[in-house]
Amino acid sequence: MEIKPVQGSSLCHLFLVILCLNITSCSFKHLTEVQNLDTSAPTAKECGSCHVEQYSEWQKTAHARAFISPEFKLQSNQYQDQDCLFCHSPGDVQNPDREARSFNRNEGVTCVACHLHNGAMNGPHKSGALFSPHAIAQNDKLNSRIDSSQLCGTCHEETYEQWQSQRLKKQFPTCHGCHGVSTTRTHTKGTGFFSNMLVAFEPEHKVRSHYLIIPDQPGQGIGPDLQLAEIENDTIQFSLTNSLPHDLPTGSFGEKELFLVLSWLPTDETAARKKIIIIPSVIAPGETKVFTTKLPKEGYRKGLSVDLFRFHESTEEDTLIRSYPLIIAPAQPSTPHDKKK
Ligand code: HEC
Ligand code: HEC
Ligand code: HEC
Ligand code: HEC
Ligand code: HEC
Repeated sequence: MEIKPVQGSSLCHLFLVILCLNITSCSFKHLTEVQNLDTSAPTAKECGSCHVEQYSEWQKTAHARAFISPEFKLQSNQYQDQDCLFCHSPGDVQNPDREARSFNRNEGVTCVACHLHNGAMNGPHKSGALFSPHAIAQNDKLNSRIDSSQLCGTCHEETYEQWQSQRLKKQFPTCHGCHGVSTTRTHTKGTGFFSNMLVAFEPEHKVRSHYLIIPDQPGQGIGPDLQLAEIENDTIQFSLTNSLPHDLPTGSFGEKELFLVLSWLPTDETAARKKIIIIPSVIAPGETKVFTTKLPKEGYRKGLSVDLFRFHESTEEDTLIRSYPLIIAPAQPSTPHDKKK
């Protein structure tokens, strides 16, 4: 437990601090006693009792599933392959020894792996609350380290190398700058009378969510760009440019298939049509690939739109990366096919 000197002589503050001390000194002892990650550390759920939002965001990520994912279990030969564990069930990621944890392994890339280093929680800010139930790093280097792409690059090695070389050409955001949602909040949330009072003494910070998103910000150079190059007869040609600082699709592990879904409403019918184009290989940063495809003769009454998806082997799910609505506007008064006739 670390206590700040009480500013002023507010009796109310003093009363609260004494109250907090009484409540916390017994129940949070294990948080303050954590020195390293050799034998044990608090679970994510325990951190989540105060960091309510961070915990619920993290639970939804691939980080929380990194160890229990059935695909990982299978490919790591039922966890026998020790080489996989530093990234899928890491100890202290800031420790150059790159060791795996032997406890709470089910939690995959868990809170303490990123935050606990040399007996203190490393976060982007210095301590600012009235009291801290655990030690907090008060060191500019450690504070900025947590917010760096380098931290992510400890495990996302190839992606990080690509980002680094693209950064030499353009001022791209950090990994978290694109993959986290910006929000303003206190570090903890109250879940009862006492915790509500404690949170009332915490400053708000501008932070980024732990939930990892696929950023989609058209016009800001973030996300892959699709352009219609040419329409000739019933052949349409378009180009896809990877404007990201890393490969499209990204990642070194598992099968990651990228595909385009073309949708249009034919002139003579009401039922919408779809056509899938599988993108055969990875598109490197800055690279443009051109695709040509034939559309059926019946034209497109309400225009043509394209969605870019990727398939994940581990979840067997298709994720929408970006929609390009109406890359061809509705045909007025006639469709390109009608013109030809
Ligand atoms: C009893 C409530 C409580 C528990 C449990 C708790 N924390 Fe905290 N934590 C806080 C408070 C309060 C602060 C803000 C302290 C301050 O500013 O001095 C904080 C600050 C932090 C910060 C620093 C944020 C920054 O921007 O610098 C990190 C990181 C952090 N906690 C991670 C954790 C992790 C990981 C766990 C589980 C091992 C955990 N906390 C458990 C209450 C808690
Ligand atoms: C300790 C290793 C490690 C660190 C550090 C790490 N990651 Fe990951 N990350 C993983 C693993 C492993 C997976 C894949 C888990 C799976 O699919 O089973 C993953 C998955 C992801 C995904 C896929 C998203 C999803 O939910 O499907 C994104 C995006 C990501 N990480 C971004 C980041 C960012 C941003 C950082 C830095 C703040 C970071 N990672 C730090 C190991 C790490
Ligand atoms: C992959 C690494 C990683 C993991 C795992 C992780 N964090 Fe963080 N955490 C970060 C990064 C990066 C930031 C800085 C975000 C920002 O820019 O605001 C952060 C910020 C924080 C903060 C301060 C900002 C805020 O939102 O109040 C707290 C508190 C925190 N994390 C708690 C947790 C808890 C609790 C868990 C587990 C449920 C957890 N973290 C898991 C990387 C991680
Ligand atoms: C300019 C914004 C931007 C930056 C910066 C960025 N990414 Fe991405 N990232 C994206 C977009 C958009 C996608 C979706 C396309 C794809 O899947 O390849 C993506 C996809 C990913 C994926 C796959 C997501 C999934 O669902 O499996 C991972 C993992 C990832 N990025 C990690 C990183 C890491 C690590 C860094 C930093 C070294 C980083 N990204 C930097 C925009 C960004
Ligand atoms: C250097 C860190 C690192 C090591 C070592 C590592 N992984 Fe991963 N793994 C990741 C990251 C980061 C991701 C998510 C992004 C990507 O694919 O690059 C991931 C994703 C995965 C996925 C999910 C793929 C998908 O499509 O969703 C599987 C399965 C996987 N790894 C298996 C393994 C196995 C098996 C080993 C050991 C032979 C291993 N990994 C070793 C970092 C690592």
